Amino acid sequence: MSDRYASFAHTGPGRALVRRLGLPDPPRLRRHRPGDPLIHGPVRLDAARGGRLAQPVHALLAAAGVEVSDPSVATTDPNDGAPGQVGTYGALVYDATGITDSTGLRALFDFFHPLARALRPSGRVIVLGTAPESCGGPREATAQRALEGLVRSIGKEFGRGSTAQLVYVAPGAEHAIESTLRFLLSGRSAYVSGQVIRITPAEVPEVDWDRPLAGRVALVTGAARGIGATIAEVLAAEGARVVALDVPAAGDALAEVANAAGGTALQLDLTAPDAPTRLADHLAERHGRVDVVVHNAGITRDRTIGRMNPDWWDSVLEVNLSSQERINDVLLERELVPAGGRLIGVSSIAGIAGNRGQTNYATSKAGVIGLVQALAPQLAPRGITVNAVAPGFVETRMTARMPVLLREAGRRMNSMAQGGLPVDVAQTVAWFASPGSAGITGNVIRVCGQSLLGA
Ligand SMILES: NC(=O)c1ccc[n+]([C@@H]2O[C@H](COP(=O)([O-])OP(=O)(O)OC[C@H]3O[C@@H](n4cnc5c(N)ncnc54)[C@H](O)[C@@H]3O)[C@@H](O)[C@H]2O)c1
Repeated sequence: MSDRYASFAHTGPGRALVRRLGLPDPPRLRRHRPGDPLIHGPVRLDAARGGRLAQPVHALLAAAGVEVSDPSVATTDPNDGAPGQVGTYGALVYDATGITDSTGLRALFDFFHPLARALRPSGRVIVLGTAPESCGGPREATAQRALEGLVRSIGKEFGRGSTAQLVYVAPGAEHAIESTLRFLLSGRSAYVSGQVIRITPAEVPEVDWDRPLAGRVALVTGAARGIGATIAEVLAAEGARVVALDVPAAGDALAEVANAAGGTALQLDLTAPDAPTRLADHLAERHGRVDVVVHNAGITRDRTIGRMNPDWWDSVLEVNLSSQERINDVLLERELVPAGGRLIGVSSIAGIAGNRGQTNYATSKAGVIGLVQALAPQLAPRGITVNAVAPGFVETRMTARMPVLLREAGRRMNSMAQGGLPVDVAQTVAWFASPGSAGITGNVIRVCGQSLLGA
């Protein structure tokens, strides 16, 4: 569904009116297009004294062809050390791992204050830290936890389609950060902001960054339309052999998606009692395994709990949560998900914030978060990661059915003043799916433009 307000605000007269009346001003977001550079403009990189990440980050960005301006290394950047001129940098990256006490947080002010206007539109802010649970003592843990407040506020202040994230890199995981830096710097993360990402030590194989999923088999449920169809398309573009699954009633649309992705279609109602075995048999016979499982199928049946029909409660919990658990159990028992495998759930900000009229849906989506947190440590020894995306307002048929005022509020109540697109969710799923993301497990990442809900 199109966002007519944003289209109008992007016209000349629309812009003038929006500015004069102080109305929400949705920027045009930089989204990835094949062949795009990772980022437009140089990356300004700096570190608090004793930081352990600036060097590896510098090396990997330089190897990826990104221009890096790093005051600790001799550069030819005339802006080094000077207040940033408006629109100089594509990204500001700060290694805060050296901060071990709250008094050291001043270094962040010293870095960001002169550069507050130096980002280009759709620029990126990335702060690297050590997760409080991995810190040496309470002082360091306190200072590292404080980074969240800085990053989330910058996400709200810098505007113009910029994003800000905090990446906690556990000691020993310094070599496991490339897929995340690439995702966050690129247009693939256009609608992801204000997030905290945790990277843990893991063996990361060599990655072909153009086709990271080449040779991998990816199952996408609910793939006939909406977000699922786009996930199938994006994973296929990254090289995956896609198995697109949806209910038999959606067979025609499903076949179109599967064909476009060069994959296969599987018509199956996930809630059928024999669905897990039929699915496992299909994957075993056709492919011998499944490397990436994306549990995207989901439904809503909205009513306040006092007025809700019990069947609506049951069907939402069945599709959105219980059927996924049964499928995971069978795929894992039969060892169809090999080392390097990825289980990816689709939660929702309703599962984080709760939502009036969605007790069933929010319960199921909070359950998806519980599933990620419970399964991730269990499957780590098998080399399988478990993560979820939590979309906010995404332009699909699901949100097109919302009452008009709620829909408008959903679109505007975030740092981007607009809804996300299915591709924003799909790109985040693709980042989790990448072999380069071996160190990312147990994460729930919101794709919500930094929505105010549940923030
Ligand atoms: N659109 C949003 O703003 C938004 C926000 C947060 C979360 N989500 C979540 O994202 C996912 C996709 O949402 P969407 O907006 O693309 O929805 P959609 O309704 O457009 O598509 C969902 C797909 O799932 C399929 N499906 C439903 N029940 C199934 C079953 N029993 N077996 C197999 N397939 C089944 C449907 O046929 C449909 O093709 C859902 O899990 C949804 O809860 C969406």
